[in-house]
This record gives sequence, C-alpha cells and structure tokens, in this order.
Amino acid sequence: MDRYAVIGNPIAHSKSPRIHSLFAAQTGQTLVYDALLGPIDAFAATVAAFRAEGGRGLNVTVPFKLEAFELADRHTPRAQAAGAVNTLAFGADGILGDNTDGAGILRDITVNHGCPVAGRRVLLLGAGGAARGTVLPLLEAAPASLVIANRTASKAAELADEFARSGPFKPLGCGFAGLAGQHFDVVINATSASLSDAAPDLPDGLYAPGSLAYDMMYGKGDTPFMRAAREQGAARLCDGLGMLVEQAAESFLLWRGVRPDTAPVLAQLRAGL
Ligand code: ATR
Repeated sequence: MDRYAVIGNPIAHSKSPRIHSLFAAQTGQTLVYDALLGPIDAFAATVAAFRAEGGRGLNVTVPFKLEAFELADRHTPRAQAAGAVNTLAFGADGILGDNTDGAGILRDITVNHGCPVAGRRVLLLGAGGAARGTVLPLLEAAPASLVIANRTASKAAELADEFARSGPFKPLGCGFAGLAGQHFDVVINATSASLSDAAPDLPDGLYAPGSLAYDMMYGKGDTPFMRAAREQGAARLCDGLGMLVEQAAESFLLWRGVRPDTAPVLAQLRAGL
C-alpha cells in the first residue's frame, strides 16, 4: 500500500492523518497516512528511513519546513518563492519539494469564504515563514495593493523587497505603526502571536466596511486576533482550519493526481467528527 505521513515535532495532535484518510476514502485512493515524530536533530535521517521503507511522500510541518527545502532535489516555483517546503514527493528521479500553504489559504479565502482578493486592498501581518509562503500566491491573485506589516519593521521591508519583481506591483513593507490611517479589505494574520495568546498590536481603524479578517491559526473558538478584529469592526472572521484542509488537498493532488472535495471534510472537522 502507498505510504504517506506528516512529519513534525510535536506531531501528536496533527489533524493531517484524519484529513488525508477522509480524502482517500472520498476519492477511492488506496493509501496509508501516518503521523511521524521527527527528532529535532535527525530530520533528514528520518525522511530517508521513511523513503527506504517505501514511503511515497511527506507533509512537513513545524519546525522542519526549511530543512525540507534543503533536502529536496527540485522545487516547484511556489516552493522556491516561499523558501520553505511543506510537501515532499519521492520519485525515481529524486525528491520534489512543493509548498501548498499559500495556494491553500488563497483557495480558502476566495472559494470557501467567497471573498475575492482581486482588486482588494490586502494587509499581510508577519514576516516569518508563514507570511513568506503567502506573498507570491497573493500577488498572483492581483490585489489592488499588498502591504506587509511586521512587529519588526525591517523584516517586513526586506520581505517586500524580495518580491519587488514577482507581480505587477511591489508590495510595501512597514511596521505596525506605519499602518495608521490606512484601510484594508482583507487582513491576514501570519504572525505567531496567537500561540502566546496575543494579537498583533495594530492601530485602530484598519478594517474597511465589509472587510475580512483571516487568522492562519485555529483553535477552539475565536483566536485573539479574531477577537481583536471583531472589536475593530471586521465584518467577517475566519480561522485557519480551512487553510489546513486546502493545503492538504493541494498536496493530495500533487501526490495522487486527484483533487478531493474539501467541503465535506472541513464540515466534518468543524463538527468534531
Ligand atoms: P512562522 O514560521 O510561523 O512565520 P517565525 O518565522 O518565527 O514563525 O515568525 C513569527 C512571526 O510572528 C514574526 O513575523 C514575528 O514578528 P517579529 O519578526 O517582530 O519577531 C511575529 N510575532 C510573533 N509574536 C508576535 C506578537 N506577539 N505580536 C506581533 N507579531 C508577533
């Protein structure tokens, strides 16, 4: 049987095995998908052992996405732009590294939440790995503008500079205070602030009427960012569970050549089934 897994550390609470099992059942694909605890100092060796045992592909999560990038022999353009890999596919010609995170969030926002990005003013919060993986897919979605804002302003400016020639316009990079007086239709939180039960310290009045606030994180109920966005007048609040399911679907498509229908899977996860 074809074997796949998600590798990370920690990994016990990963929803990926459940998601991919549901995809496999739905599409009639015969495969096994496990969770693999990667020792912090032995990522490459763990991947090699999995591959030697017949593994066909891996999803890669925290903290191994940069190491997975290094390990891959070839990269998709979106993985190259992200500088990080969340999907490995093992073939006779070596290891292909892909990054499906950005495509996942774009699909969740535009398809699942029915919110177009084209022509909208978009604010991306954060300048770490999660933000980086989203810049190219966002630019390709042709927003009216893209501002990248980070607690450490210099990192946002560097990230914006990196993507200066990737789209029809150059994204702007600034610190949070530099956002004062601006208005956005889509605000994406790609910081890890929610992990420490905090929300980015943003100026008031950023949310335009009808705007959507999207947190890449998810948990039980609203995240701190979503609560703050509600208080600030965001019209729609979204957590990152849809992104998780959509990036998984994109990986499944790469491996199996079949795109699963994500809606019933997302509904099952939301219902806690
Ligand atoms: P990831 O891979 O999840 O993006 P990372 O590369 O460590 O993780 O980046 C974390 C991001 O969250 C950074 O943009 C960080 O801001 P700094 O560059 O200023 O450190 C941001 N971040 C973390 N905690 C935050 C907080 N409490 N408020 C605002 N931003 C925060």
